[in-house]
Amino acid sequence: QNSPVKDQFGRVLKDLRISVIDKCNLRCTYCMPKEIFGEDYVFLPEEELLRFEEITRLARSFASLGVEKIRITGGEPLMRRDLDQLIAELINIPGIKDIALTTNGILLPKKAKKLKEAGLKRVNISLDAIEDDVFKQINGKGVVTLPVLKGIQAAQAAGLQVKINMVVKKGMNESQILPMARHFKNTDVILRFIEFMDVGNHNGWDLNNVISKQQIIDRINAEMPIEAAEENYYGEVASRYRYKDGGGEIGVISSVTDSFCGTCTRIRLSADGKLYTCLFASEGFDIRSKIRNHISDEELTDALSKLWGRRNDRYSDERSEKKHNNRRKIEMSYIGG
Ligand code: GTP
Ligand code: 5AD
Ligand code: SF4
Ligand code: SF4
Repeated sequence: QNSPVKDQFGRVLKDLRISVIDKCNLRCTYCMPKEIFGEDYVFLPEEELLRFEEITRLARSFASLGVEKIRITGGEPLMRRDLDQLIAELINIPGIKDIALTTNGILLPKKAKKLKEAGLKRVNISLDAIEDDVFKQINGKGVVTLPVLKGIQAAQAAGLQVKINMVVKKGMNESQILPMARHFKNTDVILRFIEFMDVGNHNGWDLNNVISKQQIIDRINAEMPIEAAEENYYGEVASRYRYKDGGGEIGVISSVTDSFCGTCTRIRLSADGKLYTCLFASEGFDIRSKIRNHISDEELTDALSKLWGRRNDRYSDERSEKKHNNRRKIEMSYIGG
């Protein structure tokens, strides 16, 4: 284990988010609008994707620099073949304490059991509405909620912990805030509301479409009283609240109205082997070409350490300063959130 690396603001590197594929079986309007991600959209070809042994090698190197937590993302990560094998490899890396997956849940009935057996402990499942009519509009494929609800059940039956991610956008699903809260209250599932963010280039983001953390909390509190709860771990993105009647907890992720760059310990790896030190970056650092050119383990760890050392990203903090107008950003479906 090398000494922990710090960036330009003294932030340490703790989490590695790995996107394993850029494809998805849904077309959520705020993420992969079907007008852009249509029939003729060109996704990454197979040979561009990092192979499992390449991903594992990178993860091992990151672990030696202090990474303790890995999250697998996509696109839709369960569309990547044999994902359970990758998880089984990652779990064995010394220093990795937590491994999780962010998915839309549709393939979980098929895959939850194998994932659990491979060593996965928890999944975050995206679901933006509980009423079919609303959900069908959002996901761009006319899919009803049942397959996702079945995915949630399958995950629980397999023994995986489940959190639900609900992006809240004005005019899209604010009608679902209370119905979703009621649905998941008194269950083991933790529902998290996410402020609609200006990620990517195609989601038509506008501050007027953001429903703030405060608005969400007020709405829930008026019907089902809640109180703030302490954070689970340093730099947790969700603020936690618990129902006063003991009905469990919810979370709110407020990257827009209350940014959390100061404690951001995350680096992101794209499916084609580029590293991004911020979700809102324009340019990645091509590590695939280096590992395919036979870089030594020592050189690899040194390159990763230097990359983090140079880091000065704090996009959410700077958003209000309008420094970033019109800059091209990476797509959410490419980097996995
Ligand atoms: P756990 O707390 O470990 O369950 O994971 P998580 O909340 O970090 O992961 P998840 O993939 O479920 O992310 C939930 C939401 O938070 C997504 O909309 C992410 O895009 C957003 N998010 C996660 N990390 C960051 C970040 O570093 N910056 C910003 N702006 N948003 C983030
Ligand atoms: N704003 C906030 N969250 C988003 N996600 C995708 N696009 C956005 C956006 N524009 C969410 C997904 C998923 C998580 C990884 O990021 O719904 O739950
Ligand atoms: Fe797919 Fe998730 Fe994006 Fe929806 S939000 S299109 S499920 S990657
Ligand atoms: Fe981290 Fe960038 Fe998100 Fe800030 S905006 S919390 S630096 S990923």
